[in-house]
Amino acid sequence: MSSKIVTIERHIFEKQKRFPQATGELTALLYDLALAGKMIAAETRRAGLNSSIQGAAGTTNIYGEDQQKLDVYADSMIFKLNDHTNRLCAMASEEHEDILQIPAHYGKGNYVLLFDPLDGSSNIDVNVSVGTIFAIHRKITKGETGTLADVLQPGKRLVAAGYMIYGSSTMMIYTTGDGVHGFTLDPSVGEFLLSHDDIRIPEPPKFYSCNQGYEKQWTYGVRRYTKWLQGIDGEGHAPYSARYIGSMIADFHRNLLQGGVYYYPHEMSKPQGKIRLLMEAQALAFIAQNAGGYGSDGIGNILDVQPHKLHQRTPLFIGNRSLVERAEHFIRQHDQAWVDEYRAYREQAAVEA
Ligand code: AHG
Ligand code: MN
Ligand code: MN
Repeated sequence: MSSKIVTIERHIFEKQKRFPQATGELTALLYDLALAGKMIAAETRRAGLNSSIQGAAGTTNIYGEDQQKLDVYADSMIFKLNDHTNRLCAMASEEHEDILQIPAHYGKGNYVLLFDPLDGSSNIDVNVSVGTIFAIHRKITKGETGTLADVLQPGKRLVAAGYMIYGSSTMMIYTTGDGVHGFTLDPSVGEFLLSHDDIRIPEPPKFYSCNQGYEKQWTYGVRRYTKWLQGIDGEGHAPYSARYIGSMIADFHRNLLQGGVYYYPHEMSKPQGKIRLLMEAQALAFIAQNAGGYGSDGIGNILDVQPHKLHQRTPLFIGNRSLVERAEHFIRQHDQAWVDEYRAYREQAAVEA
């Protein structure tokens, strides 16, 4: 670890200096997100003590999932910190059916912000790590304000992505395509300080993370892949250890730092899986790729997928490249019917987009 103390603000600023044409808009946007992270972390920490922030909100989101009070708080905090900065032309949140328009006089910025305000929110009341996921695209349409077309871009065009994790400590991880960098919040001074510079997902990997309780719903290829991870099928390597928290951000974070694969696969009754392409999968796949790993939908690179709707779901296999490619291999071998069906859906969707 370096002896220099580097705040997140300084780090983002130093990175920006490498691009003489940069206006500072993206830098400021990342810094606003760090502030949102601090505010959500503060509220998360008090959740057990404060009934106005603990428990279900009594509402459901557009997926029919119960919203927690902290989901609603985190969602509004991110919106409120970013709707008047002149940096964005639109936002999209997991908690809202449509894109979030920015008031016209503030909505002429060059960027689009997509976010999952609180990932793993069913774990809040049992004191398990949760997180916030964000992704930033450049505006591509010509009009004055942002439209759905600015939001529906493939992940390979992301200009930045990251997450905050509210765990035993609060961290913010971000990439602008130039390495993945991790900062830990020093609560005594309220600053994110560089603690994990240039993260590379380590080899050999250690873990596999999935909800094996749903194996009954899986296709044969995914079951065989899991047997391979356990060292039962195939070459008989030593088994990988199973770890599944049920907060994707916590599972992803552990595997990013220690090596492993997280997967939430397609299921017989849910051929498109559960994870949200735009608010969850794209950001994490972009981070994984910039740390030397890989994110796939079971067929190919998630970052190549042209989204066709805001709340599109995707199967997700993410982590060490070697483990993710092995999943693709088993799926290609055993799940041909699903591959054909899903590919047709994806390609059809791309034409419509
Ligand atoms: P969210 O809390 O944003 O709705 O996301 C929950 C996701 C993900 O974090 C997690 O890995 C997965 O759903 C857990 O789902 P299961 O309970 O079906 O395993
Ligand atoms: Mn989520
Ligand atoms: Mn969420």
